[in-house]
Amino acid sequence: MTDPVTLMKQEVGKAAAALVESGMIVGLGTGSTTAYAIQYIGDRLNSGDLKNIVGVPTSFGAEVLAKQYGIPLTTLDAIDHIDIAIDGADEVDPRKNLIKGGGAAHTREKVVDYLANRFVVVVDAGKLVDHLGSVFPVPVEVIPMAITPVMNVIRELGGEPQLRMGVRKAGPVITDQGNMVVDVKFNSIPDPVELEKTLNNLPGVLENGIFVNCADIVLIGEVVDGQPVVRKM
Ligand code: 5RP
Repeated sequence: MTDPVTLMKQEVGKAAAALVESGMIVGLGTGSTTAYAIQYIGDRLNSGDLKNIVGVPTSFGAEVLAKQYGIPLTTLDAIDHIDIAIDGADEVDPRKNLIKGGGAAHTREKVVDYLANRFVVVVDAGKLVDHLGSVFPVPVEVIPMAITPVMNVIRELGGEPQLRMGVRKAGPVITDQGNMVVDVKFNSIPDPVELEKTLNNLPGVLENGIFVNCADIVLIGEVVDGQPVVRKM
């Protein structure tokens, strides 16, 4: 039997895929929830329900999945807009601010998601928080030679930085850009707008996982009376 979290992810992925229309340029996010959206977009394309769409992947992972499901791909050099982007999140606050980067892909995700005319976030209900940083640390992509000074300054800012280590890979996680990720736990994040800027201003930081004023629609998967349902924030 499929577990409830997987059911929620599948339903929310399907609901997001249903928002894609023929002829659109689609930003393809990264993560286990978006993977279902990519799969359903591919299914709609292969059944003839959708025509002439192209995807812009936010990671090598998204690129591999899109190829697997038969979605043609393009790059930002070849297009002048993105109609819709579909992407997951690790935390969502009531203002639709996000923490992303659980898959270490937040740098490319931020480029693609911010460019989209409509950015649709796909999450299960467990990702909703009152305040960003309640559960999930803020991922910060850092160029390798700057890891130590960046971690020192982050401590001075009140954060607890931890270098993200690989799973089934010795040593740190290396991003699609060849950098490393520092996960930073803050006691609280009273002003996400300010923290996003402060972190990105540290020399050696490429991008952090706070996304503010960017999400248009948040689709939330929930299980109600044993049935998966999707609601919109
Ligand atoms: C990757 C991300 C993901 O979208 C985020 O981690 C959510 O992933 P999942 O849907 O697997 O929970 O930001 O960098």
